Amino acid sequence: MTATREMAPEDVAAVAPAVDPQPGPVDAVAERLLRSSAKQSYDPEVDIDWEAPLLEGKWGMPPERLSLYGTRLWDGLTEQQRLDYSVHETASVASVGLWFELLLMQMMVRDAYDDDPTTAHMHYALTEVADECRHSTMFGKAIARMGVPAYGPRRSIHRLGRLFNMTVRGPSSYASILVAEETLDTWQRELLRDDRVQPLVRMVSRIHVLEEARHMTFAREEVKRRLGGLTPWQLRVQQALTAQTCFLVARALVNPEVYASVGIDPREGRREALANPHYRETMRWMGEKPMAFLREQGLVPASQERVWRASLLTG
Ligand SMILES: [Fe+2]
Ligand SMILES: [Fe+2]
Repeated sequence: MTATREMAPEDVAAVAPAVDPQPGPVDAVAERLLRSSAKQSYDPEVDIDWEAPLLEGKWGMPPERLSLYGTRLWDGLTEQQRLDYSVHETASVASVGLWFELLLMQMMVRDAYDDDPTTAHMHYALTEVADECRHSTMFGKAIARMGVPAYGPRRSIHRLGRLFNMTVRGPSSYASILVAEETLDTWQRELLRDDRVQPLVRMVSRIHVLEEARHMTFAREEVKRRLGGLTPWQLRVQQALTAQTCFLVARALVNPEVYASVGIDPREGRREALANPHYRETMRWMGEKPMAFLREQGLVPASQERVWRASLLTG
């Protein structure tokens, strides 16, 4: 498998044997996370003012983080077009986040099917699924409020997601969850602090950042636990699955159709974005924290470096 083409269904089936997690002292962490959830959770239905108008002259995200920022195509846009495009690209990232949340909820419910319902581990897993249900509703409502399409990933990746969900098992599923959560977390922490950004986007980001901190702790614990006792072959499979999944998710974040919102040919926009040093730096910055963890856990072997580089998450 390489990063230069999309993963075919047979690639996934060939490398995805079932991996049972090793038993471990997981309940202490789960109990701590449950206590935190009980103390601090949000209900976006009531905690966000959905009637508040969008403000003129505000960005969807800080302009420096946009994939076309600083390019020749960016120079050709008026200020109003740049603002409009920023809202479309923000909606793309949010809708891909929502798509991945739907996948991870299915993975977690699938794992819970075999878990012991009397344990804190299962109680926390279900609490996280409940958080994600609220998040996906919140992202969907926010995109509708911004009046732009929920772009989601491209159709081929959307289809692959279904397959991924049926086949990916073991540490790679939680490693992929961690990468998706932590890259978006880095991005949202910046959004929520920037007063150039639409207040609605900042509030959505604030709620998400607060609840995702627990999810990332859980994902790290699950990666470590599920790495225990793998055979060398199973480890190689998990390393490859993690790299391929993260490559697809990272490259899906900006659906090229967003460029058409300001009259730019999607293919041309995509080419320019992928070669844009500002955007490449943004992706490296988003990937910095989860990549450090994956390296520490031995999930990024030399044989997968090329895929990781193509994901843009390693710079
Ligand atoms: Fe979430
Ligand atoms: Fe999450």
